[in-house]
Amino acid sequence: MMGKKRRLSWAVMIDGRSIWTRNAVLKHSQYGESLRRFKGTEYRRWDPTRSKLGAALSRARRTQYDLLPEEGDTCLYLGAGHGTSLSHIHDQVCGADNQKGGRIIAVDLSPRCLRDLVHLSKIRPGLVPVLGDARKHSAWGVMVSTKVDWLLQDVSQAGQAEIFIKSVKRFLKPGGKGLLSLKAASERFTDTNEREVFNQIREQLEDAGLTVQEQIDLHGLEDNHCLYYITK
Ligand SMILES: C[S@@+](CC[C@H](N)C(=O)[O-])C[C@H]1O[C@@H](n2cnc3c(N)ncnc32)[C@H](O)[C@@H]1O
Repeated sequence: MMGKKRRLSWAVMIDGRSIWTRNAVLKHSQYGESLRRFKGTEYRRWDPTRSKLGAALSRARRTQYDLLPEEGDTCLYLGAGHGTSLSHIHDQVCGADNQKGGRIIAVDLSPRCLRDLVHLSKIRPGLVPVLGDARKHSAWGVMVSTKVDWLLQDVSQAGQAEIFIKSVKRFLKPGGKGLLSLKAASERFTDTNEREVFNQIREQLEDAGLTVQEQIDLHGLEDNHCLYYITK
């Protein structure tokens, strides 16, 4: 039995401290997460220790209802990895058989990740896996034919903010939402503590003309990480 619930969207529900998404691929668990039914509909548990976006949804104070893309949105995901967070975003943006008509372009540098993303795209229509480097738009930018509503970057490498700013400028619609998951240890700051790194990155985003709606410290769920939610 689920306890007291509230909805973040048509597909995302909060039950106590747990987040659940309406499973677009019935009886299929993507990364070992638990499945359960509520009023005849199957949901998957979104593990906030395995997903920075899941952690940010758990930790956001003011913007919890704003972080997710809308159903049917066009999205760009830079550093999609093996598809853990992506699968939950797909539940929200596309749903079963892409009934919501969404599109998520999922870019990753690693051929091993791409193999998993290609497999995922076969069972989750609306996903478009792309083997590419987030820093080199010229190689894959053509796959993003219209500006996107929602952009998430989670690449954990040096220069994360610069990569994000360039990508937001090129691919995000005016009024669109951008999420930067930042790993402090990936940045080359010397003698600077984590909090200072997070604040310096915030300034960098603001200096680039982006509005930081919330800076969400993920400590305790995803240590050494912060997620910035910006609008353009
Ligand atoms: C922390 S993992 C992503 C986890 C994933 N976002 C999730 O929550 O399920 C970081 C990923 O970024 C990819 N990556 C690193 N540098 C990249 C770059 N320059 N362009 C594209 N992908 C990159 C890595 O191959 C890795 O899969």
